Amino acid sequence: MLRRPENTIDSTSDQSFIPGEEDYSKHVNPKWTKLLSIIGIKRQFTRCEGMNLHSSDGHTYRDFLSGYGVYNVGHNHPALIRSLIEELEHRGPTMLQSHIPELAATLARKLTSLSGTHLTRTFFTSTGSEGVESSIKFARAYTKRDGVLFSEGGFHGLTYGALSLMSNPWWKKGFGSTLPNTVGTPFGDLDALERQLKTEKFAAYITEPVQGESGILVPTKEFLREAQLLCQRYGTLFVLDEVQTGLYRTGKFLAAHHFDLEPDMVILAKAMSGGFVPVGALVMRKEISDAVYSSVEKAFVHASTFGENSLGMRAALTTLQILEDEKLGERALVLGDRLREGINRIAERSEFIEECRGLGLMNGIEFTKPRSLSLKMLYAGFTTVHPGLLGQMIVKTLFENHHILTQMCGHTYNVVKAVPPLVATEADIDYFIEAVASLVDTMENTRAGFWSQGVKIGLRAVAG
Ligand SMILES: Cc1ncc(COP(=O)(O)O)c(C=O)c1O
Repeated sequence: MLRRPENTIDSTSDQSFIPGEEDYSKHVNPKWTKLLSIIGIKRQFTRCEGMNLHSSDGHTYRDFLSGYGVYNVGHNHPALIRSLIEELEHRGPTMLQSHIPELAATLARKLTSLSGTHLTRTFFTSTGSEGVESSIKFARAYTKRDGVLFSEGGFHGLTYGALSLMSNPWWKKGFGSTLPNTVGTPFGDLDALERQLKTEKFAAYITEPVQGESGILVPTKEFLREAQLLCQRYGTLFVLDEVQTGLYRTGKFLAAHHFDLEPDMVILAKAMSGGFVPVGALVMRKEISDAVYSSVEKAFVHASTFGENSLGMRAALTTLQILEDEKLGERALVLGDRLREGINRIAERSEFIEECRGLGLMNGIEFTKPRSLSLKMLYAGFTTVHPGLLGQMIVKTLFENHHILTQMCGHTYNVVKAVPPLVATEADIDYFIEAVASLVDTMENTRAGFWSQGVKIGLRAVAG
């Protein structure tokens, strides 16, 4: 049973310094430590296991964010720790750049069997952004075209190529020019997509199959299948960014598999690491890879020092093994249904929740403007201070009152993510649902600290 703490927000508990904070502020990023303080989620986490984050203040927080999709197998999975220790003790070549890395070979074969038999080649990366950058290079080399199409509202990473595929100006402002010949079209709009594709200027159309930061938007099967067909018709590569959606996050190995797609390239990262070693992959058709590695002289024309490192390869192989052994894709499907049903039951009676949507365990709860006058005024006050204030107060309340870590979507502030590790239990999901029920009760009380503290916090944040 969920124990419901009183509906007050303890904003004092995170005000004291935690180990490392002073040096982090001095030498890394002072605004980050300040932000965590303001939004009330600054804690010293001392031990993380599975779903749970234990903190030095004696509390256990349930992780419903998963490092934005990193912890599909949970935190510090014992089998993963064992296999990484074994790999280190093996003392083999780690990133020699002058040999044939056996683990990279095994992992690439495995990725083909899981992603689709037409995707026979892999380029290994260390991050999702690097996968996006690489996909642009491979697509240009293969098609001999320069342009790149993308879905508006998407998130692809913060390096220049990836940034060029993002319509939200917030990420780009102040950083100078991005890649030319990159064009966005509305996610879900086939006519707009075809208008661009028809020009035959585009090497690739790069899109997330389910948009994460835009508010967990699940498109229709028709849209993605038609988009793929249109790309084929006009000679543009159909590239899926599955950095968040991949590795069973949505219930299947790739979200593409829900929609019966056969993308030309797929970008993976995040959860492949098992939460330990940065590793990603760009999985593609053979002929695309051949266009880059076109001669012996060009055998290393696109490469990355850490790309095929043994620890990263081992982390990914063991992570895939755990996902299969523990049938975590099936769990994601069942638990995702349970979560959405539970929250949508609350939505039926709550003024604040529009809906909970998603696929597998990639879900978002959309909060909306209430109908009753007094609540509407409080809501308007919040949005005047900052458009993200409501979402952040929801995150803060779930964290402080219910010990649940979540976050709002990066581009759609009124959608709060529910993206737990796939090792979550039914009890974890039920706890979350009850916490959201308690949260909306709090929000419906106009005298709750939620509203009075929210404005103070928002003003502090805006003051910088
Ligand atoms: C869909 C998607 N693509 C790409 C990236 C970039 O990945 P990375 O931060 O590893 O560079 C992210 C990161 O959140 C992402 O969500």
